[in-house]
Amino acid sequence: MSLLSKLTDPLFAGGQRARHRDFLEAAMASAALAAAADGPISLAERHTLDQILESVEMLRAVEVHQAVAIFDGYVDAIKDDPTGARTKAMSTVAALAGDEALAPLLLRIATALARADGAIAAPVRDEVAAIAATLGLPPPEPDGDTFLDTRPKGEAPVTVVLGNEKGGTGKSTTAMHLVVALLKLGHRVASIDLDGRQGTLSRYVAHRAAFAERSGDTRGKTLPMPVHTCITESDMRDRDEALARDRDRLRQAFAEAADCRFRVIDTPGSASRLSHLAHAHADILITPLNDSFLDVDVLARIDRERREVQGPSPYSEMVLEQSEQRVAAGRAAIDWVVMRNRLAHIDARNSREMSGLLDQLATRLQFRLVQGFGERVVFRELFYRGLTLFDLPNEGTEYRGPVSHVHAREEIDTLVGALGIAALGSRKKRAARAKS
Ligand SMILES: Nc1ncnc2c1ncn2[C@@H]1O[C@H](COP(=O)(O)OP(=O)(O)OP(=O)(O)O)[C@@H](O)[C@H]1O
Ligand SMILES: [Mg+2]
Repeated sequence: MSLLSKLTDPLFAGGQRARHRDFLEAAMASAALAAAADGPISLAERHTLDQILESVEMLRAVEVHQAVAIFDGYVDAIKDDPTGARTKAMSTVAALAGDEALAPLLLRIATALARADGAIAAPVRDEVAAIAATLGLPPPEPDGDTFLDTRPKGEAPVTVVLGNEKGGTGKSTTAMHLVVALLKLGHRVASIDLDGRQGTLSRYVAHRAAFAERSGDTRGKTLPMPVHTCITESDMRDRDEALARDRDRLRQAFAEAADCRFRVIDTPGSASRLSHLAHAHADILITPLNDSFLDVDVLARIDRERREVQGPSPYSEMVLEQSEQRVAAGRAAIDWVVMRNRLAHIDARNSREMSGLLDQLATRLQFRLVQGFGERVVFRELFYRGLTLFDLPNEGTEYRGPVSHVHAREEIDTLVGALGIAALGSRKKRAARAKS
């Protein structure tokens, strides 16, 4: 239920309703004051606002475009009438002065916006100090926490996006193997299919659920299930409305899987609005490439005759831009991981040339190359049962299946290891730690 519908929901306690409404107004006023203090709103500031709307518990239930409309309202008013509108916005903020929980949160929101563009300009610093004074709080430390970096590091959900703008390179295959590998490590995992039209990941999850039901495993004991969402891109004519709708759907998927440790997002093999949005959330981006020289053009424009790199591809430019925006907003850069898929081990010359070219590109485009999957039937054959190698009954016994299965498992383990996420505490491990 959205916050705005909650506001009119008679079951929702009156006091709490008013508190939510006041907080939403004050949060957008605070954000607008900090963001508008140095002139027009930058892309990095808009991106930070999105992150705030996603990260702050009390704002998660609000429709993004409605929150953004309130923010824009304050920004426009400040532009038209700096003195009057500023005073009005400050008085909205002042309504929460003395609120022990919400006043510091408002100040962190202002601080996050102030830091969005990197160095903090003097008028922005003064504005944030004024917000602090209005709230009865000391001005924030220049390098102190914003709410964006105060979530316990080990506990925040990790978003892994599978992406490139080329079809059939192994995004969905890698996504489903990663989902199951993480589930088997004891994590709660959200799987989000943004390629609703093709729906590969969704069909896989449906096959898995059907197989579990047939096997009487309704509680996911031997076949753990992800929290799955499938989203199809909005076809609304108005581009802004369509963007707002897609953004809301993605946020809703995140909200429904709020207690998941990982979100694995599969994207379509072509440029799309939803895919673009997902890349903005990627802590880790995995780009599988078919093991052929021709497929490198998803990363860079290549002179095929001379086998030389001419410049980044539109896809790489998009990834680098998203990564820069994250850094500007005070977050870590995207950890971009490129993996060669369907390695065939037969064409040694092609393979060497690929390695050389990808090494060059890794430095220029700032990605890491990790070992990918070999060309193996087992990566395909379990699809219709919704299984992966990790679900096979010989799991944990001496016999681990044919040698190709053993290699395939090692390849997935290596990928999970290379992502640096296997070491993150699982729910089971955390529970065990808490007990001991
Ligand atoms: N390592 C592999 N060995 C054998 N077959 C593979 C391997 N990886 C992927 N495939 C097969 O290649 C085909 C394309 O893979 P997949 O659907 O994962 O690609 P995709 O990038 O998601 O494609 P799209 O862009 O169309 O969504 C599928 O039939 C899949 O089973
Ligand atoms: Mg796919």
